[in-house]
Amino acid sequence: MNLLDYLPTIPDFPKPGIMFKDISPLLANQTAFSYAIDQLHELSTHHDFDYILGIESRGFIFATALAQKSKKGLVLARKPNKLPKQVFSENYGLEYGKDSLEIQQDILPKQSKILLIDDVLATGGTLIAAANLVKKSGAKVVGSLVLLEIFELMGRERLLNENIPSNALIKI
Ligand code: PRP
Ligand code: MG
Repeated sequence: MNLLDYLPTIPDFPKPGIMFKDISPLLANQTAFSYAIDQLHELSTHHDFDYILGIESRGFIFATALAQKSKKGLVLARKPNKLPKQVFSENYGLEYGKDSLEIQQDILPKQSKILLIDDVLATGGTLIAAANLVKKSGAKVVGSLVLLEIFELMGRERLLNENIPSNALIKI
């Protein structure tokens, strides 16, 4: 099954010059979605981890399914001002703007092993911010896994510079 058939490119969204990969057709097709989760699960078994960290918004979809299949807990990295209690925060740049992510300060046990999950690796800014949140918690990032990596944006290199192994089901 070629998952790229279910990931159309939408030019100039959300800004001119951005080639947006739309995950909606993949999610809407039960066979394609289920196949993607099975394959991501297979890749995740190469890591020894205690928790999955899912990144709002689109990362939540894949992180939730994988956490269930892996029988691991799911921790949420959320956009600002969504979490109650004290949080760690990280600002980061995106291909099309700026944002920040937060996690609750008391949610990750110190020294626990964390696998980061998102839908897309582009510049790597999002996953590096998520990794920094894990480090601030005193936990350890064992790797990152995404559905789709956009090779030319060099996120993999940025992640490697931060000592974060990355893997992707689809590389374009
Ligand atoms: C998108 C995508 C990844 C991120 C990848 O999220 O879902 O999380 O960009 O880009 P990067 O590697 O350059 O950081 P975005 O914040 O645009 O929106 P979302 O809330 O729909 O996930
Ligand atoms: Mg995202």
